[in-house]
Amino acid sequence: MRTRLSPEDVIRIVDKFDGNQGALISVLEAIQAEYNYLPREALKIVASRTGRSLVDIYGITTFYSGFSLEPRGKHIVSVCTGTACHVRRSVEVLEGFERHLSVKAGETTHDREFSLSTVNCLGACALGPVVVVDGEYHRRVREGDVANVCEHARQLENCVELTNDERIFAVQVSCPHCNRSLMTDGRLLDGYPMVRVTASFRRKHGWLMLSSLYGDYRIESEYEIPPGTVVQLFCPSCHAELKSTRICASCDAPMISLLVKGGGTVQFCSRRGCKEHMLDLVNEDATAV
Ligand code: FES
Repeated sequence: MRTRLSPEDVIRIVDKFDGNQGALISVLEAIQAEYNYLPREALKIVASRTGRSLVDIYGITTFYSGFSLEPRGKHIVSVCTGTACHVRRSVEVLEGFERHLSVKAGETTHDREFSLSTVNCLGACALGPVVVVDGEYHRRVREGDVANVCEHARQLENCVELTNDERIFAVQVSCPHCNRSLMTDGRLLDGYPMVRVTASFRRKHGWLMLSSLYGDYRIESEYEIPPGTVVQLFCPSCHAELKSTRICASCDAPMISLLVKGGGTVQFCSRRGCKEHMLDLVNEDATAV
């Protein structure tokens, strides 16, 4: 995580998305991943490079609770206080975090380790009370789980750093139904061809491109996809849905399944923002999707 704004880095992030109008949320997510919040100077650069008005950009950053205009802690804790979670006592869970971290919702701890916030609904109501920490969904959380949830976030801190982790590798994938390649010819991300599929959500249908780096969540899409949205993906050749028989262990959304060149499947959650993914080289799901 960077603490000082580098205009060159912000320009590099924006240019990675190649002026794609539908990628504004992805651009903002990438900047926030770099700085842990959205510095005002960075938003000005985004506006000038994309041609979008600053008002539009601020509108998006204030509409989605996942974005922050203020510096935040290393770990982001979001407690759902939507109706379904509320009736399952999410208020007690929230109070547990407030006591454990000695902050109120909306605040950051003095050591800049944790920021605590509330959200209205994370779209996984059956699993409530739901708490999301650094993108990881915790289901049916009780007040007594609070200390463990925070400790778990601390332990994961050094697990995977996308930019320098040598375990990050590119995969080539195809449709499990027609077996045609889903790799693009010309669109590269970090030097690797992207994966092209068709996406459908909330009555919108359009193209979607995914990073082919395993464990990388960057996407480009024709339409902006709000965090928390469950997206259906389809093969652009045979139009079959790329759905796995599995559901996400973190948030209960359907998993997406693609064939990996060389054998097996890669699976990832269909909910925007959920980071559940797996590489299944045993291939047990390959014929079932
Ligand atoms: S109300 Fe909490 S996930 Fe929907």
